[in-house]
Amino acid sequence: ERAGLADRFGRTATDLRVSLTDRCNLRCTYCMPAEGLAWLPRDEMLGDAEVIRLVRVAVERLGVTEVRFTGGEPLIRPNLVGIVAAVAGLSPRPRLSLTTNGIGLARLAGPLRDAGLDRVNVSLDTLDRARFAELTRRDRLPDVLAGLAAAAAAGLTPVKVNAVLMRGINDGEAVDLLRFALANGYELRFIEQMPLDAQHGWNRAEMVTADEILADLRTGFTLRPDPTERGGAPAETWLVDGHSARVGVIGTVTRPFCGDCDRTRLTADGQVRACLFAVEETDLRAALRAGAGDAELADRWRAAMWGKKAGHGIDDPTFLQPARPMSAIGG
Ligand code: GTP
Ligand code: 5AD
Ligand code: SF4
Repeated sequence: ERAGLADRFGRTATDLRVSLTDRCNLRCTYCMPAEGLAWLPRDEMLGDAEVIRLVRVAVERLGVTEVRFTGGEPLIRPNLVGIVAAVAGLSPRPRLSLTTNGIGLARLAGPLRDAGLDRVNVSLDTLDRARFAELTRRDRLPDVLAGLAAAAAAGLTPVKVNAVLMRGINDGEAVDLLRFALANGYELRFIEQMPLDAQHGWNRAEMVTADEILADLRTGFTLRPDPTERGGAPAETWLVDGHSARVGVIGTVTRPFCGDCDRTRLTADGQVRACLFAVEETDLRAALRAGAGDAELADRWRAAMWGKKAGHGIDDPTFLQPARPMSAIGG
């Protein structure tokens, strides 16, 4: 029997991303419409004990060593601190991280750190308040900046910042964003836009590419390849001359990294996704609610990962965007 979460292509997933809600308190234009989406009904969402049970199975039986909580926006999950504390109490203790838009982090950074969270990644696409309000449809830039500062102060480090550049909107801000990140000791990563938006508006020709971003950054900084081992990380990183923080690019589309993928995903309604772009999902919630034991849940999870495709296939003529949008997968 296979031990960990292996697939047919020789990869093993050790990094679990858990979406705790599909809801969000922002409405980023590249992610969802102003009115929001048809949110998951409460009874279809995993309760706290169910989430903790599945993460425990992954950690105890399937070799998962890293657990990241995502959303939607995970800080709006009522008992996030309690879930983090429970997962931090598992053995072997997984590394614990969170991907958030930063709203509410000013208040929660300390409690999350005390509960056992190791680090955070915070989304921030612009430093201009009016542009932030336009892009996210909410005037909350000061909350995000306060959240970032609180995370660093609480020791949730390295604090990483995620930015998606969009042509004609914020693509002039790459150098400014890096200056801001370096000044505060945050690790900035630029993300190529992916075909995962709820409105299906992604257009490859409009996407700001990794090469463009790097060329732009080099007008203001000297970048050198980062000698540290990348492992399965989506971000390719560079050292910035004269600074201690790094900068990264997540080039899913033009520089795919699927060959080294080490990820498995669990949605807020208890579905395993073998890939961010997977079209098929495996329902662990039904099994769990029907009384399945840990061994059976582990078997189902293994089977789900065995079906993982070699890559995302964005360039295939037959590529189909998954039905579940980014906001309901958790990135
Ligand atoms: P660390 O490297 O552990 O800090 O986290 P991360 O960068 O993988 O996670 P984060 O949640 O900050 O995600 C940043 C961006 O990377 C998001 O746009 C995610 O959708 C994307 N991302 C995360 N994992 C994968 C993956 O396996 N494949 C692809 N293509 N993109 C991913
Ligand atoms: N393509 C790339 N990144 C996206 N994000 C949200 N939607 C997309 C998309 N279609 C980003 C968010 C956040 C991270 C988790 O994913 O801005 O920084
Ligand atoms: Fe892994 Fe899928 Fe992301 Fe490729 S697109 S790195 S296979 S999750």
